[in-house]
Amino acid sequence: MQFTAMILSNIEVSPGYWRMRMTAPAECAAAEPGQFVMLRVSGSIDPLLRRPFGIFDVGVYTPAHSGGVAQPYIEILYRVVGKGTALLATLHSSDLLDVLAPLGKGFYMGAVEEEKLIVGGGVGLAPLYLLAKELVKESKVRLFAGGRTRDDILCITEFERLGVECYTATEDGSLGECGLVTEALLRRLDKLKGNASVYACGPQGMLSAVANIAAERNIKCQVSLEGYMACGVGACLGCVAPGYNHSSETPDFRCVCTEGPVFEAGELKWRE
Ligand SMILES: Cc1cc2nc3c(=O)[nH]c(=O)nc-3n(C[C@H](O)[C@H](O)[C@H](O)COP(=O)(O)OP(=O)(O)OC[C@H]3O[C@@H](n4cnc5c(N)ncnc54)[C@H](O)[C@@H]3O)c2cc1C
Ligand code: FES
Repeated sequence: MQFTAMILSNIEVSPGYWRMRMTAPAECAAAEPGQFVMLRVSGSIDPLLRRPFGIFDVGVYTPAHSGGVAQPYIEILYRVVGKGTALLATLHSSDLLDVLAPLGKGFYMGAVEEEKLIVGGGVGLAPLYLLAKELVKESKVRLFAGGRTRDDILCITEFERLGVECYTATEDGSLGECGLVTEALLRRLDKLKGNASVYACGPQGMLSAVANIAAERNIKCQVSLEGYMACGVGACLGCVAPGYNHSSETPDFRCVCTEGPVFEAGELKWRE
């Protein structure tokens, strides 16, 4: 659905990373973990295209003078990388945004008795918070958060408040273990001997490593892709990703905005 959202807050939570809360219709605030929004970041024609963002959180609040009527909201967590996100970071409470949401196919929850291992890097943590919030209702959840430096490890306190056990790793050693977070994931998977499901979102290299680790151990793994998107609704095919059967002789593509952004890792083609 398309709607006009009012920004409730827009705060820099780590250098270059922002968290924005905006009003939303109840249908949108009932989004599944892993679904995303397309935002028109400016009223002018530049930038022309909407920008996609995972839904970080949903909830309700009761505005003053509303007579006790609750208002649903959604949140996004974003990194300033270019023109669109730089414009988003200049917006304030009570500014308006044109939104298409909720879009795409989210995560499925999996069997409750399995331990849920969530792996995220940088803004890849964005769709994983709402997922963790759902998963902790019935299962043990661990988060493996990785980044180049401590600035890329976002909102860990919020995950901990949900009851999620958090491991962190940074490439420069400024927070948690020094190195890649997949090392800690490997140790946990070896301990669990297969009784786990993996959920991941982050840079392509991290997703590829996680998908290969899970495939080698025959463990269920879902990944959320964050590539380029133009329309977000299946019209332009600008977002396609190679499917597991893809080759130059037999093209096999998945439309990320309508068939994803969440996929079973085995549905996609990964680098070895
Ligand atoms: C389903 C989905 C969910 C997403 N969720 C989030 C989220 O929760 N938080 C968040 O911060 N970002 C998210 N992204 C990425 C986000 O949409 C882009 O960072 C944003 O569109 C960049 O817009 P811009 O105008 O600031 O940058 P542009 O001016 O368009 O680009 C600036 C630079 O960033 C690079 N870039 C742009 N988009 C991407 C991309 N998708 N991946 C890698 N490099 C890119 C460009 O090549 C260029 O170098 C998501 C993307 C998808 C498809
Ligand atoms: S972004 Fe246009 S088809 Fe997916």
